[in-house]
Amino acid sequence: MKKRLSAMTTVALLILTPSLSTAGESDTCKGCHNGSVAPSVDTLKGKFKTVDELVAGAKNSQNPMMKPIQADEAKLKAAAAEILK
Ligand code: HEC
Repeated sequence: MKKRLSAMTTVALLILTPSLSTAGESDTCKGCHNGSVAPSVDTLKGKFKTVDELVAGAKNSQNPMMKPIQADEAKLKAAAAEILK
């Protein structure tokens, strides 16, 4: 419950912080993929070796927090490319 609450706070912060939308694509992911809300980007890097795999993995997530991300494939791909760089 506590974890879910802090996750919700993160979502609210992401939505309310305009500067994030102008940052690098993968910075959006790092807001959650920091090792506490969701697996860190380094963990994602270890698990997915190609952009296609990472995009597929992101789309396969059943977590509601990934919903808005899954809807924007272009952004997802750009972010995946940055993460695996
Ligand atoms: C609002 C928070 C949030 C944002 C922003 C976010 N994610 Fe996630 N993501 C999650 C959560 C929560 C999960 C589920 C983690 C779990 O199942 O342990 C997840 C799961 C994933 C997975 C599947 C991980 C696995 O081990 O199967 C991938 C891949 C992923 N995200 C990629 C991304 C990418 C790329 C971005 C940026 C474009 C992103 N995410 C942005 C919260 C977020």
